[in-house]
Amino acid sequence: PNSEENIAVNFKKQHPELENTEAYDDLTAFVHSIQVPRKILLMVNAGATIDIILNELTPLLSKGDIIIDGGNSHYADTERRIQNLDKKQIHFIGCGISGGEQGALKGPSMMPGGNENAYAKIEKYLTPIAAKDKNGKPCCTYIGRGGSGHYVKTIHNGIEYVEMQLLAEVYHIFHKMGKNPSEIATILNTWKNEVNSFLLEITIDILSTLENDEPLLNKILDKAGNKGTGNWATISSAELGIPSTLIASSLFARYISSFKDERTALNQIYQKKQAHLNLDNDTILQAYKLARIINHHQGFQLLNEASNSFDYELNLSEIARIWTNGCIIRSELMEGLVSILKSTTNILINDSIIDCLTDNKNSLTKLVVESVSNGLTIPCFSDALNYFNGITEENLPANLIQAQRDYFGAHTYQ
Ligand code: 6PG
Repeated sequence: PNSEENIAVNFKKQHPELENTEAYDDLTAFVHSIQVPRKILLMVNAGATIDIILNELTPLLSKGDIIIDGGNSHYADTERRIQNLDKKQIHFIGCGISGGEQGALKGPSMMPGGNENAYAKIEKYLTPIAAKDKNGKPCCTYIGRGGSGHYVKTIHNGIEYVEMQLLAEVYHIFHKMGKNPSEIATILNTWKNEVNSFLLEITIDILSTLENDEPLLNKILDKAGNKGTGNWATISSAELGIPSTLIASSLFARYISSFKDERTALNQIYQKKQAHLNLDNDTILQAYKLARIINHHQGFQLLNEASNSFDYELNLSEIARIWTNGCIIRSELMEGLVSILKSTTNILINDSIIDCLTDNKNSLTKLVVESVSNGLTIPCFSDALNYFNGITEENLPANLIQAQRDYFGAHTYQ
């Protein structure tokens, strides 16, 4: 009871590369085997499991030991754990890790946050595990105090949700234009020259995958799940007063998808006409470029506000740098942002971005108009356009909102 007999030992036997490691099924024996100050990396499911393990582990530890949580934990939980363990003079580092299964094998992007002196003691163990950027530097950097590492990972995931949703909307548009998955893969393959990213590459692979001579994608149920980080990113954006509209839309698009039965029933009532989309490849590509810039702009604006509000002192350019390899949102755009974010937190004022948005705005408008008038749902594309139109408008109708608030609630106005 309460022990995982031989699980670790058997796992080790199956993996010859683990020859020089030791495997334990007893926590006390494991803890006693490590040099002090101990450095322990936990890779377990976020949530209650972490607290259960900490309760078992902490009594076995000594002052100065360091625990690293490499899961997708909520940053507030990380703050709480840091404070609790601090009383015992044990350090807790919340380390966002991105890269999925491939990252685990080839090197992930790592976002460690917490006590800086404790980080200095573990840096030499983390950086060799991490992926390397174009210049050979590790995609791992000290993020900041408290739960900042997990906060930054949460916003990474928010940006990830949007990048995935935009590609899903591109697929939806091409599908409604009558193209099959392998034809869409062929088109997206030509996009690599201009907008390459890890997510574009895997999407092309997915679209090309056949199962018994049929596109695998056609057999996958259209209900998207989630494990919470997109939800936390959306809540944080609302709490901090930053309009990360695309993160919210990508999350809600997953929620809408989850109502499959309701959608099917309502589709019988509100039947849709056959779509006739008058869009060409270039228009869709240009619209996609613009929407991705808005996504990254909103994500970094959110990080910037969190940095100010929580005193994280985030270095946005360094964050972009460690996101250029290993992680799910690595892309050529991210590589360009490393230098842009050195001089501004608002990428919309950078000259090359200004040119790109000015050139591609008509395409985004055309894509939204065509899609919406044909009954398609493209929430991230349309929110990108609405955000762009709003953030670039000097005179908004918010004067009327102020007058209404004052009328019924004496809220006053300027
Ligand atoms: C990563 C991923 C990873 C995981 C998330 C995805 O950066 O490696 O983000 O952390 O796949 O759980 O979130 P959802 O399960 O909510 O899509």
